[in-house]
Amino acid sequence: MTDVSPELLAQRKRAAAAPRRAVLADAPVVSRTLARSFATDPVVDWFVRDDARREKALDQWFDFAVKKLGLPGREVWMSDDSSAVALWIPPPQDTMQLSIVDEVAAIPMFLSVVSFQRLGRMQRLRAAFDANHPKAPHWYLFFLAVDPDCQGQGLGSAILKSTLDAIDAKHEAAYLEASSEKNVPLYLRHGFEIVSEFRPEPTGPKLWGMWRKPR
Ligand SMILES: CC(C)(COP(=O)(O)OP(=O)(O)OC[C@H]1O[C@@H](n2cnc3c(N)ncnc32)[C@H](O)[C@@H]1OP(=O)(O)O)[C@@H](O)C(=O)NCCC(=O)NCCS
Repeated sequence: MTDVSPELLAQRKRAAAAPRRAVLADAPVVSRTLARSFATDPVVDWFVRDDARREKALDQWFDFAVKKLGLPGREVWMSDDSSAVALWIPPPQDTMQLSIVDEVAAIPMFLSVVSFQRLGRMQRLRAAFDANHPKAPHWYLFFLAVDPDCQGQGLGSAILKSTLDAIDAKHEAAYLEASSEKNVPLYLRHGFEIVSEFRPEPTGPKLWGMWRKPR
């Protein structure tokens, strides 16, 4: 974590509380925030390749997630300075679904991100996500991220609250998987409840499926 002045932090917090929809031109900075913040995430750590090409792989994966999964649904929200990001997949899709054509086209990207050795991990992870995904319609929080320089200062809570307020205005449900135990209290505070606990394989990382009833 580098030093960020209190004034800059306050400014970033205000920006996170009033996010805007990201557009294609924002994709590089949104992906960068995701790649930086998820670099130490236990699940990402488990499936992304673990060699000299890891940093590039993280950029590649989040670039794909933003452009192919987030932006088409028009629910990628960002603080104007991109230090806080929330990528929602709205109903009725609400999962990481790709058409057969996109799935085939994505094979070289997946291989490059995870490496041949970890391809099985990626497949087991996707199967575990699918098996535990709720059937009822909901908004799916695919990624929430705050730049590592600003974590623990309320930015994540601010962008989460703002985007949940918009979901509450539609009286719709929300779902996410918490990928580390320290994130669970954050989501409990915002009204999510734990509905499942699972691992992609017995020695793999633990995930918490969390559901938020419509309000
Ligand atoms: C999780 C994340 C979005 C939270 O945003 P934030 O601005 O750091 O969090 P806030 O300051 O609003 O709230 C703090 C709470 O977030 C959680 N938290 C998770 N990771 C944290 C971190 N690195 N630093 C501080 N709080 C963290 C804790 O529950 C914390 O509550 P506590 O202080 O009572 O322990 C952010 O820390 C992040 O991007 N982490 C890495 C990526 C990630 O894990 N994303 C979510 C995947 S489910």
